[in-house]
Amino acid sequence: MSEPRFITFEGIDGSGKSTQARRFASYLEGQGREVVLTREPGGSSGAEDIRALLLTGDPGRWSAETEILLFTAARRDHLEKTIHPALAAGKIVVSDRFADSTRVYQGATRGDLRAMVDSLHALMIGREPDLTFIIDMDPETALTRGLARKSGEDRFEDFGLAFQETLRHGFLALARANPDRCVLIDGNRTEDQIASEIAAHL
Ligand code: ADP
Ligand code: TYD
Repeated sequence: MSEPRFITFEGIDGSGKSTQARRFASYLEGQGREVVLTREPGGSSGAEDIRALLLTGDPGRWSAETEILLFTAARRDHLEKTIHPALAAGKIVVSDRFADSTRVYQGATRGDLRAMVDSLHALMIGREPDLTFIIDMDPETALTRGLARKSGEDRFEDFGLAFQETLRHGFLALARANPDRCVLIDGNRTEDQIASEIAAHL
């Protein structure tokens, strides 16, 4: 396989994705690579504006269908403004979340909307990561960690524990369905142990 250049981190809220994406980007920089560390929703100026709409307010503020449109709009801007230019310049892109989050959070939590997610993805995004680390984690611990941050961006954490459990199963199913691209990582360990396993994959 050629060297992965577009690498994503996925998992439930509070699973340690941001921590590991940051550490992995530093590791790659330490190897002399040029890296763009980015995130979703967000990662470009317009997409960061959409982020605020999606992550604050009541859980019922948007339907899952409206969320699909907003997350996809944010992703399209992120691709145009950040991801494509960085890849074209020969950099490695490490993104904290990407389309797999929409497949799971919007596609499989409030009814089966996966076909709608996939259609819009094909129409507007049409790009998969080369490599995806899915951090699997006990939902109760992850939710406690996530809420302890008091980020003010807790709209999805506020759906509660059962929602996080559904998400966890969604990510496990995604990992099983895409073994060529996805690597499942046990997140119930220390940051150092997880970071070493991730680095060893390259
Ligand atoms: P995510 O991006 O998946 O929501 P974060 O990386 O922001 O997760 O981590 C959530 C919280 O848990 C942070 O306060 C972080 O410092 C802490 N944390 C991350 N990884 C671990 C770990 N392996 N063990 C214990 N705490 C962790
Ligand atoms: P993030 O900041 O990564 O949250 P956390 O640190 O809690 O994991 O992501 C913001 C939230 O947006 C998170 O709850 C997951 C949700 N989300 C979706 O529902 N669909 C998507 O397509 C994306 C990218 C994120």
